[in-house]
Amino acid sequence: MDFKKLIAKRRSIRKYDARPVPQEVVDRLVAATMSAPSSRNSHSTHLMVITNPETIARMAEMRDYGSAFMKNAPLAILVMGDQSVTDKWLVNASISATILQLACVDEGLGSCWVHIDGSLQRKAEPEGPKADAFVRELFPEIPDHFGILCAIAIGYSEFEPAPLPEWDVAAHLHHE
Ligand SMILES: Cc1cc2nc3c(=O)[nH]c(=O)nc-3n(C[C@H](O)[C@H](O)[C@H](O)COP(=O)(O)O)c2cc1C
Repeated sequence: MDFKKLIAKRRSIRKYDARPVPQEVVDRLVAATMSAPSSRNSHSTHLMVITNPETIARMAEMRDYGSAFMKNAPLAILVMGDQSVTDKWLVNASISATILQLACVDEGLGSCWVHIDGSLQRKAEPEGPKADAFVRELFPEIPDHFGILCAIAIGYSEFEPAPLPEWDVAAHLHHE
């Protein structure tokens, strides 16, 4: 897809129809994500692909705000980083997650970021447990030295998303 079209089409999509994402599409998403640049070429990003509906429904409970929508997603990809190879894992993982979301647009898929790193399980409990702990309990195979940035919930959009609203670019643009 033309880059300008791709950028214009990107929206956070939180409602998906029942169609599963074909394996060959998942493979292309993973390949695109893994092409992301990384600090000192450290390739610190690791992904976990989740298609089991029961597991995705459990993931939706990681927080009491902003994650419930993912329970009906046919696909979720955890974006993680190996902290033992670079202290820039979070930046690397953020670039990977962004490329993953753009690759979704290119494949005709909708996606939405579900934040994990540093996020609380319950908004009203600032000293309470973190979403990270919930996810580690659900996936005990994740090594301790992996940081977990986010899950990207993915599926075919149930609706045609509105175009991106106008943004006050001038207010955020600085010249010297
Ligand atoms: C770092 C980051 C964290 C986000 N976390 C969540 C989240 O936990 N839950 C959610 O529903 N959306 C989340 N989003 C999506 C934003 O809410 C969304 O990008 C924003 O409202 C703008 O809408 P748009 O993506 O359609 O342009 C996140 C986006 C980013 C970049």
